[in-house]
Amino acid sequence: MKLFTKALACLLIFFSLQANAQTAGPAKMKVFIDALMKRMTLDEKVGQLNLPGSGDIVTGQAGNSDISKKIREGKVGGLFNIKSVAKIKAVQKIAVEESRLKIPMIFGMDVIHGYQTTFPIPLAMSCTWDMKLVEQSARIAASEASADGICWTFSPMVDISRDPRWGRISEGNGEDAYLGSQIAQAMVKGYQGNNLSDSKSIMACVKHYAIYGAAEAGRDYNTTDMSRVRMYNEYLPPYKAAVEAGAGSIMASFNEVDGIPATANKFLMTDVLRKQWGFKGFVVTDYTGINEMIEHGMGDLQNVSALALKAGVDMDMVGEGFLSTLPKSLKENKVTLQQIDEACRLVLEAKYKLGLFANPYKYCDEQRAATDIFTPANRKVARQIATESFVLLKNAPMASGTAALLPIKKTGTIALIGPLADAKENMPGTWSVATDFTKAISVLQGLKNAVGGNAKILYAKGANLDADSLFEEHATLFGKTLHRDARSNEDILKEALDIASQADVIVAALGESAEMSGESASRTDIGIPKVQQDLLKALLKTGKPVVLVLFAGRPMTLKWEKDYVPAILNVWFGGTEAGDAIADVLFGDVSPSGKLSATFPQNVGQVPLYYNHKNTGRPLGEGQWFQKFRSNYLDVSNDPLYPFGYGLSYTTFSYSSVTLSTNSIKSNQPLTATVTLTNTGTTTGKEVVQLYTRQMVGSITRPVKELKGFQKVELKAGESKKITFTITSNDLKFYNSDLKFAAEPGDYKIFIGTNSKDVKEANFKLIL
Ligand code: BGC
Repeated sequence: MKLFTKALACLLIFFSLQANAQTAGPAKMKVFIDALMKRMTLDEKVGQLNLPGSGDIVTGQAGNSDISKKIREGKVGGLFNIKSVAKIKAVQKIAVEESRLKIPMIFGMDVIHGYQTTFPIPLAMSCTWDMKLVEQSARIAASEASADGICWTFSPMVDISRDPRWGRISEGNGEDAYLGSQIAQAMVKGYQGNNLSDSKSIMACVKHYAIYGAAEAGRDYNTTDMSRVRMYNEYLPPYKAAVEAGAGSIMASFNEVDGIPATANKFLMTDVLRKQWGFKGFVVTDYTGINEMIEHGMGDLQNVSALALKAGVDMDMVGEGFLSTLPKSLKENKVTLQQIDEACRLVLEAKYKLGLFANPYKYCDEQRAATDIFTPANRKVARQIATESFVLLKNAPMASGTAALLPIKKTGTIALIGPLADAKENMPGTWSVATDFTKAISVLQGLKNAVGGNAKILYAKGANLDADSLFEEHATLFGKTLHRDARSNEDILKEALDIASQADVIVAALGESAEMSGESASRTDIGIPKVQQDLLKALLKTGKPVVLVLFAGRPMTLKWEKDYVPAILNVWFGGTEAGDAIADVLFGDVSPSGKLSATFPQNVGQVPLYYNHKNTGRPLGEGQWFQKFRSNYLDVSNDPLYPFGYGLSYTTFSYSSVTLSTNSIKSNQPLTATVTLTNTGTTTGKEVVQLYTRQMVGSITRPVKELKGFQKVELKAGESKKITFTITSNDLKFYNSDLKFAAEPGDYKIFIGTNSKDVKEANFKLIL
């Protein structure tokens, strides 16, 4: 009886707390969490810091799983990569009905570039340079994921990378901190909306903090090491921007920084993140990030778990180091209760902000799951975004005096050839964990949809992804098979040449498979695999017009292709609607407008190659190749194959010279820079007008160019428009050698143009 009364009292307190747990102001949240934490045992507090993998949960059997036992015991703060309202509801029910304190769980997932409606991979998305579309994609992803039970996404990934060998360059926004920061903010806004407690909003998790994209030699998880000045100016800004946009959580990266793994790095997790940037959310490790510190050489599990907590990490993904060692560490005074409390509070606050205490089943609405996912409206947006992410790298005529090869006509016979041509499983790209591959649209399907009965589409595979079947196996994981053809290379090629001989135009769908980039998918050769190159050469030999539709998860080396293939459309991995979007662009229903967010090198030996480099004391003169005792190579020029910001259109644009409103500005005075942009071609098109600056003399050496603004504008054929940018001394600030963020007086250049190389310039002075 006594027990019953006690249980009833607890229940009453809990329900009254729940009733109060509407997502009101911070003060109310504090009262709620204070009251809850007073009732929590140490084990329950540590339980909130535990984010186990959800491997063994099967719908209908959630109650019997090993995890469910832990949930019942209050040892689980949340789960991730578990999907569907039915499953999530079943496990949430265990937490809120069977655990002592009935604390709801948080459900995370890698919703990286869309949910079931899958958008282009992030690297591609960044090539749209359209922040409204980027935000809209995240908004749609949030609405679909939240309809399926998810309230937390491990995105945006904002790691700057200048190394295309690194497979995860596909998951980020390229090489530039300014563009990366704009995208980071747009993504956070899209996921979290105006109010995190809205049932269509999900919490963002910015990753991988920090500088994961600078892995040595482009090898995943490898050591990173850089100066603070570089870190602050060139790598940290996107994380900071995401924090400023209100991101609710952040993920520690696998790599070390200054010899200390990020997961135990107090400088990153506390000094920079919380003290300098004022981050108020919680920090989660990456997958087994704590345990991996044993291999890093930081001690045993108890030791590394304590290090992580003390550094400022709040939640432990998968490894259960916190769960299994923190109580012991507390007893041995290796951590403090205050540190555990602080982490627990931050996790509970996240749940509170999401409205989970008010309604733990808030994201478990079967009705929404049935109607809000993979809708025609969402797919339409995905198709548009995909078209805007494609980058037209080359578009030459077949003979001088004739029109450029692209767009092609919806008539005659088109031979579609290549291992990526009829490969719907590969269209969404890496990290497409919620995609239904059966519903993705292949290039073959897209072309057929577009031409209807007006043209004949012939198809042949032409080559496997790679001659080596083991390589192909490694590069087609997670259900992204390319249905390897068992015939000999010669037989596969012969069939393709027969098909090609019947065609007016050949579309070659070649390049990387979806899993040739992404996590643990680094490459030392970043070209098109040889067997596919051989196919391409054979197709070109037919003398017929060949369009290369290039699939890529990274900047690739395409020197030969650039020299010999008349048209190259880089389509990255465009998501579920990629096939239709590719057809839209190939046939000219949409003019391509994507611009590269990462430099394409001529060869892998030039890596890292990026536009905003320093000048050195021995720079090579413009347009030159080799000069003795200059900073250059004997065998290749310093030029990129395609520079940052590059991308063609079906129309052409001309830029007037740059006019400045004044030649000198004082602190906070605006300066406007104007160009007249004219569409000099014959079709409507979009152009990304880019603004760069250079500080000519600085207290530390400064980059030769830095992106400071961009505008994407659409002009009709013949139309002109004045494009104006306003900058102030604020835009010229950088971190000096004391890590002070300030602008310096002196001479500056402004550049405006179509990419980071082709620009018009003007000069001004900053007077302070
Ligand atoms: C990746 C993260 C991801 C996590 C959870 C890790 O292997 O590095 O980006 O969010 O797994 O799936």
